[in-house]
Amino acid sequence: VTGEPVLRGRRARLAWEADCLERERREARIVLAFGGVLIPAWALFDLLLEPQLARPFALLRTVGTAACWGAFVALRGERSLARVRAVVGGAVALAGATIAVMLPAVRNFSAYLFGFSLCFWAPGALLSWRVRHALGLSAWLLAVAAAAFALWPGRGLADLVTAGFYLASAAVVSTGMTFAHRRAMYRAFEASHLLERRNAELERALERLGDAQARLVSSEKLSAVGRLLAGLSHEINNPLNVLHNNVEPLREHLARLVDAARVAGAGDPAELAALRARWAELDLDWITADSLDAIDASRVAVDRIRQIQRDLRVFVRGDAPEMVLADVNEGIRATAALLARRLPDGAALSVDLSPLPPIRCHPGQLNQVWHNLLQNGLDAIGERGAVTVSSRLAGDRIEVAVVDTGPGIAPEHRARLFEPFFTTKDVGKGTGLGLATSYQIVQRHGGAFALDPTHAGGARFVVELPVAAT
Ligand SMILES: Nc1ncnc2c1ncn2[C@@H]1O[C@H](COP(=O)(O)OP(=O)(O)OP(=O)(O)O)[C@@H](O)[C@H]1O
Ligand SMILES: [Mg+2]
Repeated sequence: VTGEPVLRGRRARLAWEADCLERERREARIVLAFGGVLIPAWALFDLLLEPQLARPFALLRTVGTAACWGAFVALRGERSLARVRAVVGGAVALAGATIAVMLPAVRNFSAYLFGFSLCFWAPGALLSWRVRHALGLSAWLLAVAAAAFALWPGRGLADLVTAGFYLASAAVVSTGMTFAHRRAMYRAFEASHLLERRNAELERALERLGDAQARLVSSEKLSAVGRLLAGLSHEINNPLNVLHNNVEPLREHLARLVDAARVAGAGDPAELAALRARWAELDLDWITADSLDAIDASRVAVDRIRQIQRDLRVFVRGDAPEMVLADVNEGIRATAALLARRLPDGAALSVDLSPLPPIRCHPGQLNQVWHNLLQNGLDAIGERGAVTVSSRLAGDRIEVAVVDTGPGIAPEHRARLFEPFFTTKDVGKGTGLGLATSYQIVQRHGGAFALDPTHAGGARFVVELPVAAT
């Protein structure tokens, strides 16, 4: 009924009060400053109309102005809503009483009263007093004015009715203003509260999303590593077999050589013939040649395993939480090398890298991006075709492009490429997270990631990364 908000909780109530106090102080200053101009102006107007009343109106002007400005000064230090209202109420009452006292001397009564009554109620309306306060003030002023007017000799009933009419219309106008103002304030307050709550909810949701995203990125990384390792285990198996198959014969060869060396070590030249016989018997010519071959093969096998291990170490970099200075090319090279190990005969993966300055980045995460792009390219070309990754410096940005000779991307799929879980691959083959996570990783690096729409034949993805100012 009062137009006040139904607010649950003490804090909401206090916030509402503080909000009101702030507004009312601001508005009270405007109203009082307005009154400070209007009252003297009105008095001046009457002064011009009725020169014989110059002295009383000079008095009225002085009192009205003093009341307004006194209230204005007092208001600046007020700290509570109730006192703001008390000061404004006091000022209005004082001005009202002054005018009531002066009323009987005024001839142009109705217009005068109408102007002033609006002036009285305006503060009430603007200061959003409770409706019953505004009505009470209206009734009070109406009573004072009517009594003073009726008591003064020489006034007729018609004058009284006109005055009552004007006063009542002013009361209705101001009451309407009070209602409207109150409601608008409540709406604004509620909207701001609602917004605040929504904001808090959104913030929480964002936090949860951030966590989920971090989990997705790391699980995507794990799955990429898993797929790579599945391919590489075969790749490591071959050199391991070579080592395994060579170690036993090498041991036997060595035993025979040691045997022959022992005969030679006996040192008797007469036994040279026996040594030769033994040499032939042990087939040492073949054994030495085969041993060298076995050692060569083993060395190659060990080199391959070491290279795989090195590439893997570059690829699976455990990233620290903060960015580090790193060469992007190094990661691209290692990732491509890992993927290139088990390609079908008709497929090729080539690397064309220009020298780049080191940039601040999470190298392990960027490797995830290169892996996703290259793997997608390799998936797209299948048994036959080529995937090329190139890097270059373009102004203050590093540009990495991955091009393939596959079928390209259907126009209806283009808009959905970076959507999480969007995949055209069979269940179990693709999760649809590759491009989505890559996009987020590039964004976190302040870069850009897009499909080149102008490229004809196959797909061309371009990643741009800013060169860190270090
Ligand atoms: N080079 C490309 N050529 C053709 N289509 C592509 C290419 N790269 C991506 N796509 C399309 O975009 C889809 C989404 O790719 P994305 O890497 O996000 O997921 P995915 O490869 O299907 O699965 P995941 O990478 O998680 O194993 C793919 O299913 C494929 O249809
Ligand atoms: Mg993919």
